[in-house]
Amino acid sequence: MPPNFLAALRRKPAGGTPVWFMRQAGRYQPEYRAVRRRHSLLEICRLPDVCTEVTLLPVHQLDVDAAILFSDITVPLLAVGIDLRIEENVGPVIQEPFQGPSDLARLRPLVPEEDEPFVLEAVRQISRELGGTPLIGFAGGPFTLASYLVEGGPSRQYLRVKGLMWEDPETFRKLLEALSDLTYRHLAAQVEAGASALQIFDSWVGSLTPYDFGRHVLPVMQRLFAQLRSLSVPTIYFGVETSGLLPQMAEVGADALGVDWRIDLAEAWRLVGTRHAIQGNLDPALLLGPWPEVERGVRRVLAAANARPGHIFNLGHGVLPKTPPDNLRRVVDLVHAVTAEA
Ligand code: CP3
Repeated sequence: MPPNFLAALRRKPAGGTPVWFMRQAGRYQPEYRAVRRRHSLLEICRLPDVCTEVTLLPVHQLDVDAAILFSDITVPLLAVGIDLRIEENVGPVIQEPFQGPSDLARLRPLVPEEDEPFVLEAVRQISRELGGTPLIGFAGGPFTLASYLVEGGPSRQYLRVKGLMWEDPETFRKLLEALSDLTYRHLAAQVEAGASALQIFDSWVGSLTPYDFGRHVLPVMQRLFAQLRSLSVPTIYFGVETSGLLPQMAEVGADALGVDWRIDLAEAWRLVGTRHAIQGNLDPALLLGPWPEVERGVRRVLAAANARPGHIFNLGHGVLPKTPPDNLRRVVDLVHAVTAEA
């Protein structure tokens, strides 16, 4: 029996440590690159057969314990009519960035069955073909989505979005609430179609001070996770460079927190307490190196987790395009072998 990912999220005995990788479908795979020569990223998301094929590839090749829907955090934004494109090696770029209160009307409520039926169809098809392997549905966190909408694209310093937060906190709050509603509807639809766990990628929330996170983001996240609780599937809250925010992230109401490699897992657990599962946190750059180094890194992560109930092995962020696929396969086998219960 493979380790039980859903049990681990609930800190129940899981028969070993489950493993999956953020961005486990992507450019490091020759098969994905072949599909990308025929379809753009967003086309893959909109074609359920192709989306299913791409989602299942890493499950079959790597023997991971969970699948994650192939999609992008920008999909529900496009579905409500936001004009954006995804630029190769850059990321999402918005034609007309949000600037103030008059832009709030551009975020109408998402009706998944009408605005993005392809997402539901893909989730249904993937769930059928997966058999028993759990499927993770996902969405971007409201702050991370807001950062793209307000900055107009990827950012290093987040000056515009922070400027809006400080200068017009009322509009900022309304923007996050509208994005939280979008996220909830997008996630609820995925669960209804068959997703059995949910992850919120709030990748850029670590750019905030603990004060600003607590004041401007935490209340929105608490409300969102309270709504998600009614869906009765386990939830994961992930961000990059969040070491200084972990005690507050533990208050959002997620079952598990995803952490990057900049913190020791034992320290992360000390900060969030024992009532959470933790997902992470191998440095994805390490996977580009020779296997003996990778193996030592994997063993260090497992040692830091110390077989606590509720460890889900993952990278600290997504798989990098230059990663040799064989290293990922060997990581899965190593984690399973080391943590298998006698
Ligand atoms: O994990 C998986 O296998 C699902 C795939 C997935 C994609 N986007 C597909 C994708 C996931 C989980 C996402 C989420 C996402 N998208 C996030 C949060 C996770 C994170 O990385 O922090 C963010 C910030 C985005 C926005 C975005 N979309 C970025 C920054 C990029 C990279 C641009 C580039 O070319 O490097 C994208 C494009 C994107 N989304 C790719 C993939 C596989 C790049 C490859 C391609 O164009 O085919």
